[in-house]
Amino acid sequence: MRLDQFIATTSPLSRKEAKRAIAGGRVGVDGQPCRHAATHIDDSARVTLDGGVLTLAGERYLMLNKPVGVVSATTDSDHPTVLDLLPGDIGRGLHIAGRLDADTTGLVLLTTDGQWSHRVTSPRVRCPKTYRVTLSEPLSDGALHALEAGVTLRHEPRPTKPAEIRRLADREIELTIVEGRYHQVKRMLAAVGNHVDALHRQSIGPITLDPGLATGEFRELTRSEIDSVA
Ligand code: URA
Repeated sequence: MRLDQFIATTSPLSRKEAKRAIAGGRVGVDGQPCRHAATHIDDSARVTLDGGVLTLAGERYLMLNKPVGVVSATTDSDHPTVLDLLPGDIGRGLHIAGRLDADTTGLVLLTTDGQWSHRVTSPRVRCPKTYRVTLSEPLSDGALHALEAGVTLRHEPRPTKPAEIRRLADREIELTIVEGRYHQVKRMLAAVGNHVDALHRQSIGPITLDPGLATGEFRELTRSEIDSVA
């Protein structure tokens, strides 16, 4: 879609007013002012008008507190999926912005907005994800420093990006990573000779799991949560 059309669709401005707003420097694309009405807006673009993020009307955004045993998929023949936790047709058209393993609990974001979920999951954006990790062994200082610096995972040439770690208890840490590789947290801990007993995602970028949501519950995101994803 062209930029002027995107603005006319997502804001109260007409196509003519959108063109004027673009020419006047009021419109940003991916953090840069954009003065070309014909600019192509793809699925990953972040468009702002006077600093406010624009999203296609009718898009929906949910957070869910995923229980153990539920799979992060839209369909599965053997296990319940996160969409099965949403009553009626609430789940219609939603996709998952960042999957969790079946035995991982915590924050899952669901949306109909492909541009928004791309910003959450794209490796280029490096959106931080924070996990509470219960370990089988206490984490040694050496292992902690190795994880902070980046470790090499089995069958992968590139080391992980530096992680942030906070010790919470003897066998419990808070770990923040900016990538989303396959089974990344479990493989990172395996790379330093430890083992993940339990894994819980607390936040994705600026969005934190609502402490009022019991396991299996969900709620709509607030406008400021939606707009907080840069
Ligand atoms: N890392 C994992 O190993 N599992 C998850 O579910 C999420 C991150």
